[in-house]
Amino acid sequence: MDKPFILINLKTYTEGAGQRAHAIAGAAEQVAGESGVAIGVAPSCLDLHPLAMHYAIPVYAQHVDGAPPGAWTGHVTAGALKSSGAIGSLVNHSERRLTLAGVEASVAALRQEGLVSVICSNNEATSAASAALSPGYVAIEPPELIGGGVSVAKANPGIISRSVEVVRKVDPGVKILTGAGIQTGEDVKIARDLGTDGVLLASGVVKAKAPIVVLRDLVSMI
Ligand code: G3P
Repeated sequence: MDKPFILINLKTYTEGAGQRAHAIAGAAEQVAGESGVAIGVAPSCLDLHPLAMHYAIPVYAQHVDGAPPGAWTGHVTAGALKSSGAIGSLVNHSERRLTLAGVEASVAALRQEGLVSVICSNNEATSAASAALSPGYVAIEPPELIGGGVSVAKANPGIISRSVEVVRKVDPGVKILTGAGIQTGEDVKIARDLGTDGVLLASGVVKAKAPIVVLRDLVSMI
């Protein structure tokens, strides 16, 4: 089995912005080097370019619009992400929901730029619909478990295994992440044992006093 992918969403947490975003990216780079596990970050758009320039880890955006370059105000285009150094973007995070047509447009815009899409889904049905768009990843995150102390891997393993089944059926080439409440190496191991390719997490690392300690624990059972 390949090593998993760990993606840290810095959200709009104060603890994940500016110099603190640099500290987390630096810790992720160090632990990725020590462990051989791919660890990426998804910072705010304002921090994306500096992080992509300074650290040898994958940097993702938290959102992308399907709009082409041109007369659009306040939009984030896939082309702009690419020139900022991003390798992909989250799409349809539960804190940044899109319409189905919007999801499709964002994935198409990323594909056109050669960037990786990570579509977030909340249950088996939306996981299957997401897989039909053939993104790089589908990330399953039950919203009620986001930001809490209980990991989806322990609270609702069924939603993970059922989503793995439907995604594999729709498009076996799509990789699967799982998220919501992931905090420990044991959570990562359970997610892997359920058939996923990695995890998407936020508060466990971003709000930790010492993010590097949590990152080392996350890779400890791989
Ligand atoms: O995108 C990651 C996410 O929504 C999960 O957040 O804080 O439960 O790890 P958290």
